[in-house]
Amino acid sequence: GRQRERVQSIAFNSLSNQDIPAEFIRAETEQPALTTFNGPIPEIPVIDFGNPDHEKLAEEIADASREWGFFQIVNHGIPGEVIEELQKAGKEFFELDQSEKEEYARDDNGSLEGYGTKLQKEIEGKKAWVDYLFHNVWPPSRINYRFWPKNPPYYRKANEEYAKHLKVVVEKLMNYLSEGLGLEENALIEGVGGEEVMEYLLKINYYPPCPRPEVALGVPPHTDMSALTALVPNEVQGLQVFKDDHWFDAKYIPNAIVVHIGDQIEIMSNGKYKSVLHRTTVNKEKTRMSWPVFCSPPSEHVVGPLPQLVNEENPAKFKTKKYKDYEYCKLNKLPQ
Ligand code: SIN
Ligand code: FE2
Repeated sequence: GRQRERVQSIAFNSLSNQDIPAEFIRAETEQPALTTFNGPIPEIPVIDFGNPDHEKLAEEIADASREWGFFQIVNHGIPGEVIEELQKAGKEFFELDQSEKEEYARDDNGSLEGYGTKLQKEIEGKKAWVDYLFHNVWPPSRINYRFWPKNPPYYRKANEEYAKHLKVVVEKLMNYLSEGLGLEENALIEGVGGEEVMEYLLKINYYPPCPRPEVALGVPPHTDMSALTALVPNEVQGLQVFKDDHWFDAKYIPNAIVVHIGDQIEIMSNGKYKSVLHRTTVNKEKTRMSWPVFCSPPSEHVVGPLPQLVNEENPAKFKTKKYKDYEYCKLNKLPQ
């Protein structure tokens, strides 16, 4: 039938025997208990977006994007209530009856939008301990309300408000990142086609409690194919980033916006900024949730190293291609 098995119901069934199906048990090389760094954690950059010294701010953002491809921003200007409403609405959706959630199930037509359980094909057929909902939030021409929950009734308002505020932060970020490359502030946003067309795709990750969190993963290691990703998690720790051969816990900072540099910014910057490898762990008692927004070029837009950054000494390190072709290779694990 159409209905696939959801991790939420697998998690519920796992409560009785406190074990999980074999396909969720990772190889030892991936198990979080065996591979999480437990020495002193290096400072993962936290950036004060309210800093009035714009040059300094651009420099901090650029440093973090070169060294980690990852940082968290505080004082970003998005009101706490706006984030809380987004989170409350998403949580209420996932707590609806299964049959109601299935009304929003993804169809197999190539679009990512909808409620579902598995996106990327994984090596050795391992499964990720997560269900999700995807839908575009910007621009209006790309919104398909068929995938926006009607329950709770304030879901739409909460998501529209958040998208409106987030767009301001993301555009500022793209400007600072351009300055950090020594370019005009609009260089990167033009590189993805311009601010009117850049697409904002929201994903809600729902990671139910897992009886064996030491051997399972929420999402397996990956880099985001977006230009950049801006996310808010709930209070349950779980995001890890990879640097210098180690997996580090990214500490939860209430109300911060978490930023991942994605593949398209790595490409446009010709490798100066790097897209961060990350994964998520799950919790034995608590449900973890997160709300990443993937900011990407339109599918027909052609992306490559910015011409201003390429010359004889610095040849292009990446191919120039349509974003949809990049996405196709990434999702099917084909060489780029
Ligand atoms: C993701 O990378 O898709 C998930 C990040 C998170 O849940 O914090
Ligand atoms: Fe990701």
